Amino acid sequence: MAQERAKLDLNGTVVELPILDGVEGEKAIDISELRAKTSYITLDHGYANTGSCLSGVTFIDGEKGILRYRGIPIEELAVHSTFVETSYLLIHGKLPTQAERDEFSRALTKHAPLHEDVKHIFDGIPDETHPMAILSAMVSILSGFHPASLDPRQDEAQINENASQLLSKVRTIAAYIYKKSIGEPFIPPDDHLSYCANFLHMMFSKPKKDYPVDEDVVRALNLLLILHADHEQNCSTATVRLVGSSRTNLFASVAAGICALWGPWHGGANQEVMEMLERIHKSGKGVQEHIRVATDPKSPVRLSGFGHRVYKTYDPRAKVIKEACHRLVEKFGVHDPLLEIALKLEAAALKHEFFISRKLYPNVDFYSGIIYKLIGIPTNMFTVMFAIGRLPGWIAHWKEMRETKPPRIGRPRQIYIGNRKADYVDMKDRK
Ligand code: CMC
Repeated sequence: MAQERAKLDLNGTVVELPILDGVEGEKAIDISELRAKTSYITLDHGYANTGSCLSGVTFIDGEKGILRYRGIPIEELAVHSTFVETSYLLIHGKLPTQAERDEFSRALTKHAPLHEDVKHIFDGIPDETHPMAILSAMVSILSGFHPASLDPRQDEAQINENASQLLSKVRTIAAYIYKKSIGEPFIPPDDHLSYCANFLHMMFSKPKKDYPVDEDVVRALNLLLILHADHEQNCSTATVRLVGSSRTNLFASVAAGICALWGPWHGGANQEVMEMLERIHKSGKGVQEHIRVATDPKSPVRLSGFGHRVYKTYDPRAKVIKEACHRLVEKFGVHDPLLEIALKLEAAALKHEFFISRKLYPNVDFYSGIIYKLIGIPTNMFTVMFAIGRLPGWIAHWKEMRETKPPRIGRPRQIYIGNRKADYVDMKDRK
């Protein structure tokens, strides 16, 4: 069958461009030869319409609200899988056999402790430092403790070793960031605990007083991390791929992704949502006032946890998290006024013409903070939780990017709109 082609008419000169098909029927016009053939480039602010790669990791249909990792719907993974198994799926491209799963878990257990020198680094960090700043710095520094990661010719086995180190150590670093912030001693990892239980132990145990790990809480944490594990070419993942494309090591590439995630329009939205709900609660003004400000074209305020570049329907992750939220609130028998405000805010927004016409729905960050809060995780650590969850996705994309043939550095172009050629003016003649 002849390959479909697009025709571009540039002032009478017709250029033919190949069309590529994804396995789910997505179509792309391949413009990689356009500049060579015509001297034109394409322009796409925020890359809203630009595919940067071919990828086999995650599929999203934003109109239908579908999200699948390596073909498996997240709703199935949420019920049947664990974060460790889902990480293996994303990084290695398939569900592990029992033996593969055991070996992966052993590697994570082995790498959980931090080197004594990493712990000393915490001493010099100012108390006010945001956890995301510490996380990105610490992850970048890990490359110094694992220098084999710096060799751009490293083999698959070495990359997998670094991936396990990263997945395991980030969990310990995150718990230690929290311990440092509250002035408590670090709690070492416990080899007998599962990935999530071990994290909760390092976060909440105290010397000689073990935190009683609750299986429902472990389950809820697994669920949240699974739902955050990958989301194809989002801002942070695209950053990891771009940084890695210059043959930067895995640790530094992921450190860059952590910085990209931090922003309030990306992973930082979960912290923003909680702060927004608390502000509404304290003000006593009700949700309508916030809706009014968030829909005012003159106001920079947005409804945090709403809207998405890709989803033009309810975010499938938000759906699962909302249900889990209700289950956990019931289990703990707590009355959470912030959950009530969130439910009212969602209902008010979904009825409002502003949100309806723009297809803005709750996203993954709208309800996740309420679960984190119930678990006892402080608000300024929410985005760190997102980062732990997103690690397998970043690693899978970094690996996929490295395997792309031919290897190419990521390097967008631009349309220059600055000064035309100008002369250098001596200081005395400048105005
Ligand atoms: N509240 C109010 N207005 C909004 C919102 C919102 N949450 N989101 C989008 N809009 C408006 C925006 O002002 C624009 O209006 P107009 O057409 O009048 O100019 C229109 O909707 C389209 O917005 P956009 O900025 O062009 O859309 P985008 O695809 O570039 O942005 C987004 C996506 C996620 C950055 C944006 O929806 C947003 O800022 N949401 C709030 C922050 C948030 O919850 N982020 C988490 C995203 S999910 C987790 C993750 O993967 O990062």
